[in-house]
Amino acid sequence: MTGIPGPPAGHASDRHPLSRRVLLRRTGLGAATVLVAGAGVLGYRTFDNGVLDPGAGQPYEPWSQWRGDPSLLGAVAAAILAANPHNSQPWVFRVTQSTVDLYADPARTTGTLDPLGREKQVGLGCALENLVLAITARGHGATVTLLPDPGVPGHMARVTLASPGEPVPDASLYEAIGDRHSNRGPYTDQPVGPGIIAGLTALAAGRPEVTTRWFPAPAEKAALGGLIVAATEAIVGDRRQSEDAFAWFRSSRDDIDRYRDGLTLDGQGLAPLTLATAKLLPATSRGAGDAFWLEQTRTVHTATAAAYGVITVTDADDPVQRLRGGRLLQRIHLAATARGLALQHMNQITERIDRERSTGAAATFAARFDDLLARPGWRGLATFRIGYPVRPARLSPRRPVSEVI
Ligand SMILES: Cc1cc2nc3c(=O)[nH]c(=O)nc-3n(C[C@H](O)[C@H](O)[C@H](O)COP(=O)(O)O)c2cc1C
Repeated sequence: MTGIPGPPAGHASDRHPLSRRVLLRRTGLGAATVLVAGAGVLGYRTFDNGVLDPGAGQPYEPWSQWRGDPSLLGAVAAAILAANPHNSQPWVFRVTQSTVDLYADPARTTGTLDPLGREKQVGLGCALENLVLAITARGHGATVTLLPDPGVPGHMARVTLASPGEPVPDASLYEAIGDRHSNRGPYTDQPVGPGIIAGLTALAAGRPEVTTRWFPAPAEKAALGGLIVAATEAIVGDRRQSEDAFAWFRSSRDDIDRYRDGLTLDGQGLAPLTLATAKLLPATSRGAGDAFWLEQTRTVHTATAAAYGVITVTDADDPVQRLRGGRLLQRIHLAATARGLALQHMNQITERIDRERSTGAAATFAARFDDLLARPGWRGLATFRIGYPVRPARLSPRRPVSEVI
């Protein structure tokens, strides 16, 4: 369980390239010309950075192989495709003939971005949801026990084959596992209808302590978007948080092949020519990456969100509620995928709330977030935007099942 190496120091960020982008903006079409005219000089970098084959090769194979194995190992292959913070993939599985145990990998953390372990446990809840859907799709019932061993806090869940097992809300959720991706590109101005939002809300059925608060109306949306931008500014202004984000950014194809985790240029939702050009330019610095991310948050992510959703719980510190919230989040993402909707997690506000709490700094975000939620007795656990995508999202890398069991 602990044998899996953590991310190398100073390596990669959940977000956001780059000085490349600044160059791109300044060079405009010139960059495309360089791309063609300089083919000889740039040939190696073209090859090295996966310009010609985005989303291809071993780090991406789990996306096409997840259905093949009818055994419980095949269910783990579905679980590892779940959303998870910064693509840190903080999980370990133990499989027997009739059980799958899910553990948190203590070596895989995002540091000051998640000082209270909230996102990690929410991400493990996302993986648990995929796992249950995949076990059920294999013809078994599944019974889930959360935190089955109080003496082992990292033992998050045990799934036992059972009959009849947990009800699965919608068989199409399983089918969407391989198509679900984080889409950080622009969304169109088409609204997400109330019927769709009601359907996504209903996915929480049976869990009264976990609900979704939606922000589809322009004024509320603008207020929440403004708070997300303010939190982003605070993160990039906090050296430790900025460094911890940058450590998860994989800026070269070599690093993607080596680590098979983290955030990549392919995952930033860029237009194809911009993406190809960005890959040919020198790797980004942390400061340029932060500037790019802040700009994208302002001009793309918040500017084109058709609606926001916030998973709310009665106790955001409770690991059980975090796991259940993660399961709901993953369900919503899968159901959105099945309906042609794009989704991007946007957790800057809670990252600042937890950072302020953990350092004893004045709490500048918690009350503002509570005010926007306007649900006394409820706390925001995880935030996302939703909408119809301008272009499809690209694949993110995954470590193989053999590395996480
Ligand atoms: C709890 C949690 C928090 C996340 N926070 C963010 C975020 O703040 N910004 C973002 O762009 N993506 C965020 N993500 C998305 C992950 O970065 C993404 O799931 C991961 O990189 C894998 O990519 P994929 O979803 O395309 O498979 C979050 C995911 C989870 C589960």
